[in-house]
Amino acid sequence: MMKKNNIYYNTKIESLLKAYPNSKFFLITDDNLFSLYQNFLTTTFANVDLSITTIPEGEKAKTIKEYQRVVELLIKAEIRRNDVIVAFGGGVVGDLAGFVAATILRGVTFINIPTTLLAMVDSALGGKVGINSEAGKNLIGAFKNADKIIVNEQFLKTLPQQELINGYGEIVKAAFISDRTIFSLLTDDQPSLKLIKKVQKVKLALVKSDYFDKNKRQYLNFGHSFAHAIEKESNYQVPHGYAVFQGMEIALKIGMVLKITTPSDLRLLEKYFSLYQIKPYQKPYFKLLKYLKNDKKNTQELTTLILIKERALIKTMKEVELDELLSLASEL
Ligand SMILES: NC(=O)c1ccc[n+]([C@@H]2O[C@H](COP(=O)([O-])OP(=O)(O)OC[C@H]3O[C@@H](n4cnc5c(N)ncnc54)[C@H](O)[C@@H]3O)[C@@H](O)[C@H]2O)c1
Repeated sequence: MMKKNNIYYNTKIESLLKAYPNSKFFLITDDNLFSLYQNFLTTTFANVDLSITTIPEGEKAKTIKEYQRVVELLIKAEIRRNDVIVAFGGGVVGDLAGFVAATILRGVTFINIPTTLLAMVDSALGGKVGINSEAGKNLIGAFKNADKIIVNEQFLKTLPQQELINGYGEIVKAAFISDRTIFSLLTDDQPSLKLIKKVQKVKLALVKSDYFDKNKRQYLNFGHSFAHAIEKESNYQVPHGYAVFQGMEIALKIGMVLKITTPSDLRLLEKYFSLYQIKPYQKPYFKLLKYLKNDKKNTQELTTLILIKERALIKTMKEVELDELLSLASEL
């Protein structure tokens, strides 16, 4: 059995369940995964008391309404303090199930089995769980560490290309902010376990140094303020991973205007635009300013940007300054 922190790699799930001899397992997954993996799940959990709850697939499930529906179902099914909630899915399932686990009966044990690349390298790590409010994404949540995170890259074989790109966005980000050796493991083949582990290491190190997201954990937001603005502007028609690539391009160009980032970094990013067939964001960039204003990472009139100079660094600036920088960056 390979284990690091509380992450288990390619480990038989059956054997890990033995750690909870008197527990019932409440597995939460989405409709899409349930149809793909129903047989796998019933076989894997055959020797324990299992109940499966499905939620709709996609971001639309991360609502208070869906949270309430799941909680009420589990309470009706008489969930007890020593039972276990298992998330089997991508970031949506993990975030919602984790939030249920954090709050139901004031908290029960949580196991996360990520099935998307993004969830394996990002959302399943670091303890952030939550749902969306009508006012914005991830505004309701908690910190809840999974007791076990079970990673098996075989699940990625059924993952559509667009979902892989969502993961690659976070992988390229991790390479830029902290570990450039990651670039050499990025190919157009299926992602390897070695790659997944390296990217996890970047997030885990930042989370460890700043669990409550006051300082260095913000490096993980490289490109993300712009990505969120791009998603909002498109009314969420641009998928997250594509928006992250486009956001990183804008952040690198701002770094170049400020003479912090080198042009070779921009060329490096552009390589992945062609590898994954991603189109750059349509200039001019200052169109994004109004969508940047109510980003969670901005306080009053100050905007926090993550820029790259070999590794990440934090820079705060006034909104007016950002407006000008966006205009100058558009000319590059
Ligand atoms: N908690 C955190 O720290 C954190 C970090 C980053 C992102 N997130 C959240 O993660 C969410 C996005 O997660 P996501 O990108 O994993 O999307 P997702 O959970 O919506 O999954 C994407 C799609 O892939 C399908 N799918 C999942 N695994 C599959 C598989 N193995 N085979 C075939 N299809 C599969 C799902 O059914 C869904 O349709 C967002 O809500 C975001 O806010 C959270």
